Amino acid sequence: MRPGPGGCCYRRPVRANGCVANGEVRNGYVRSTAAAAAAAAAAAGQVHHVTQNGGLYKKPFNEAFEETPMLVAVLTYVGYGVLTLFGYLRDFLRHWRIEKCHHATERKEQQDFVSLYQDFENFYTRNLYMRIRDNWNRPICSVPGARVDIMERQSHDYNWSFKYTGNIIKGVINMGSYNYLGFARNTGSCQEAAAKVLEEYGVGVCSTRQEIGNLDKHEELEKLVASFLGVEAAMAYGMGFATNSMNIPALVGKGCLILSDELNHASLVLGARLSGATIRIFKHNNMQSLEKLLKDAIVYGQPRTRRPWKKILILVEGIYSMEGSIVRLPEVIALKKKYKAYLYLDEAHSIGALGPTGRGVVDYFGLDPEDVDVMMGTFTKSFGASGGYIGGKKELIDYLRTHSHSAVYATSLSPPVVEQIVTSMKCIMGQDGTTLGKECIQQLAENTRYFRRRLKEMGFIIYGNEDSPVVPLMLYMPAKIGAFGREMLKRNVGVVVVGFPATPIIESRARFCLSAAHTKEILDTALKEIDEVGDLLQLKYSRHRLVPLLDRPFDETTYEETED
Ligand SMILES: Cc1ncc(COP(=O)(O)O)c(C=O)c1O
Repeated sequence: MRPGPGGCCYRRPVRANGCVANGEVRNGYVRSTAAAAAAAAAAAGQVHHVTQNGGLYKKPFNEAFEETPMLVAVLTYVGYGVLTLFGYLRDFLRHWRIEKCHHATERKEQQDFVSLYQDFENFYTRNLYMRIRDNWNRPICSVPGARVDIMERQSHDYNWSFKYTGNIIKGVINMGSYNYLGFARNTGSCQEAAAKVLEEYGVGVCSTRQEIGNLDKHEELEKLVASFLGVEAAMAYGMGFATNSMNIPALVGKGCLILSDELNHASLVLGARLSGATIRIFKHNNMQSLEKLLKDAIVYGQPRTRRPWKKILILVEGIYSMEGSIVRLPEVIALKKKYKAYLYLDEAHSIGALGPTGRGVVDYFGLDPEDVDVMMGTFTKSFGASGGYIGGKKELIDYLRTHSHSAVYATSLSPPVVEQIVTSMKCIMGQDGTTLGKECIQQLAENTRYFRRRLKEMGFIIYGNEDSPVVPLMLYMPAKIGAFGREMLKRNVGVVVVGFPATPIIESRARFCLSAAHTKEILDTALKEIDEVGDLLQLKYSRHRLVPLLDRPFDETTYEETED
């Protein structure tokens, strides 16, 4: 499948939640004080649903997914319907040379090639995506800090190609980069240290870790990562995506079972598929769905032979980057212990960005890192660098060093990049002798709560957890995807907009990423512009009415299964 606008994997629309009551995992929701509180909160017009389970959660877990208003859903479907109908009609008229406008046909120079897409994808790309293509792949020409410079471009052929005007749109407020702690910058101690290492070591390593690409810097980094995560050992890789896609096949294979959240990132999906293990998918963050799969796996074993599974591996993310939701880690850990499964946690978006000390989702919930078997994360977001890591028991890391394709066959991390990670991580840990890292973590948490609260007050439908720095603002209708991106850029605010197939068809959205580098003044300016564009495009859909998700019954027949 072609990656959609925003470049993400396709995500299914279903959402429902499980519940853990008083520390005991129950396969079904039992009304409790927490549920009564949630219902009361909903009745009182608050949009949060509260899950406080004395045994497992040490603090309230507030995550809201306001339902799509019926009228908006109908209008969105109608919008796609009209676009599709007219697209086909015009294609038909074009075929008979009645329609004279040829914007939505492939360019002349493309027609000598075999069609790249299958029928509907070709149609969708030409007739729908091309209309708003200018919102993606915009080149920037500065550090992706709180503000960013964008190269202005124009299209004279209906977005099939772009020409640069030579102008730079300066100082655009950057609400789209994953620069959570503000370490993506070209000044300061990290940059100075990286520049020094660059002078000493150069850029390239030109070898793998097993050959002559194992630098003292890599060893230093891995020790630091292990101590940061609170695990026995860690290994660093040149690419976050490859960390998932190449290490999962080293951990599981035929005869093993992977239980994967339906909204997992494409790198996890690819890794799971490459492994040859059987994959079963549970509903997003839904503990009933996960427990059902675990139970079935234990009771029935492998298909046909009924032998027990060699291993059961649960794949989850810390923060889900399209939903802004946080994994219900205490419940996942309770389940994995109960059914003796392994847990693989991808902290790409949560490491650095969550928890009182920035150590991610484990830190956020006050859990023991030992309870997570494979701690995966990337350096591309909070650390402003590149690459990924895996942390865990020494035995695990020693095994991966010799069995993972990305460890054995890939060139190791560039030294200045390593230095950027080391200095930013030391800063977060306070090992640089300053409180800067701690302040950045606090600033991000404050910015997140402030920005989310203000958007909700304005009447937008905002998805996700109140502590998630990833903030999806729902746009729904196809015409509003392009309009929102363009109107915001006109007002000097750069945003990421996402539509089908990266989201379910009626759940197009803008996805903001907050940063510690955003000052209150920057956020207020961005909020003012969002408010204005929200009125202009009539995006304030919220009725401040949330049906507590816990009250939705879990439908046992809807989980998806892939057999090998
Ligand atoms: C959950 C998750 N895992 C892995 C990756 C891949 O990481 P990288 O971009 O560092 O290659 C991403 C990228 O955004 C991600 O969101």
